[in-house]
Amino acid sequence: MKTSSVLPPQRDLFEIPDDVCYLNCAYISPLLRSTVIAGTQGLERKSRPWEIRPTDFFSTAKEVRKLAAGLFGATLDDIAIVPSASYGLATAARNLPVNRGGNIVVLAEQYPSNFYIWERVAKESGAAIRTVARPVDGDWTSGVLEALDVDTAIAALPQCHWSDGTLVDLNQVRQRLDLLGGALVLDLTQSLGAMTFELDQIRPDFAVAAAYKWLLGPYSTGLLYVDPRHHRGEPLELPIFSRKNAEAFSDIRYRTEFASGACRYDVGEVANFALLPALVNALTQITDWGVPAIESALAQRTDQIAQGAELLGLDVTDSRFRAPHFVGIRFPDRPRPEVAEQLRAEKVYVGFRGDALRVTPHLYNTEQDLKRFYEVLRNSL
Ligand SMILES: Cc1ncc(COP(=O)(O)O)c(C=O)c1O
Repeated sequence: MKTSSVLPPQRDLFEIPDDVCYLNCAYISPLLRSTVIAGTQGLERKSRPWEIRPTDFFSTAKEVRKLAAGLFGATLDDIAIVPSASYGLATAARNLPVNRGGNIVVLAEQYPSNFYIWERVAKESGAAIRTVARPVDGDWTSGVLEALDVDTAIAALPQCHWSDGTLVDLNQVRQRLDLLGGALVLDLTQSLGAMTFELDQIRPDFAVAAAYKWLLGPYSTGLLYVDPRHHRGEPLELPIFSRKNAEAFSDIRYRTEFASGACRYDVGEVANFALLPALVNALTQITDWGVPAIESALAQRTDQIAQGAELLGLDVTDSRFRAPHFVGIRFPDRPRPEVAEQLRAEKVYVGFRGDALRVTPHLYNTEQDLKRFYEVLRNSL
């Protein structure tokens, strides 16, 4: 890693008290100060509705699409704006055929939003859910490749597991699916914005990311990438704004044609005047930093956290199978969820998911935070 390109800590851009050591971005990221201002100004616009013009129902959404396209490596036309990961995944489910006897491949303990929908699809279609067992060494990819076969209708996967950041090599999954023919649906909520994503290599059918974690966006916002081959599919909702010429408010005839591209999958009332300006602000900052620069800065932090945990005799995932922005720490004798509470009492915030202490820093974390985490963890053992 080139240290010269590593971004310095950006704590001043956030309103985080000095005594708070927040290492739980995988749970909810804090908003940038500038995002709070953008959101507040957006909310205030509705105090003056006479200033809101028909074009305003489209312009901020267009900015979101442009920024999202940059992050996915897609074009503006491929992006729909959704309120949650589950909304995007339900959209994918609505548009992908699954037949009796087929299977849908998921990871063990995959995030519920990327499981319940497939459980329903399987029940309704007579397909099977094929769950890849959690690997002892953190190597999910071998298990996924084994699970895929000619009957796989959909591989519904993340880029890394939400509970501990263990990776799935999506390039290998793509290559296998190219031979077998199944669809690929991705939940990138725990990776987009923090980890490089190679759209042209991985070519998912649908990929969604809720924005309130690694995209630093407000809650109830999300981005859905839709491959052009699905641009003419069935949206979950049929709001006014996804039709062609919807901006002509005075023309009250019904429109039969959708506007072109993935915006037919937008949530209703997509022009959310409070949340979209906040989302634009957050995505602009992520874009300005650049995902590769964020990734390498976070990798430095997680390397340091992992080394500290190992010094204390704790288990961390083999670095080959660990996402650059996550550390899952396991205790050799038994899971110890109480440790997260002990840390919390010292204002050190981490997650505990399954049997792992989940430590997920961002650019607001300083060297001081990492030292404090180490000391407080040591004292809690
Ligand atoms: C992997 C993953 N997907 C999705 C979500 C959020 O899902 P939704 O937006 O459907 O609430 C989370 C939240 O923790 C997550 O970790």
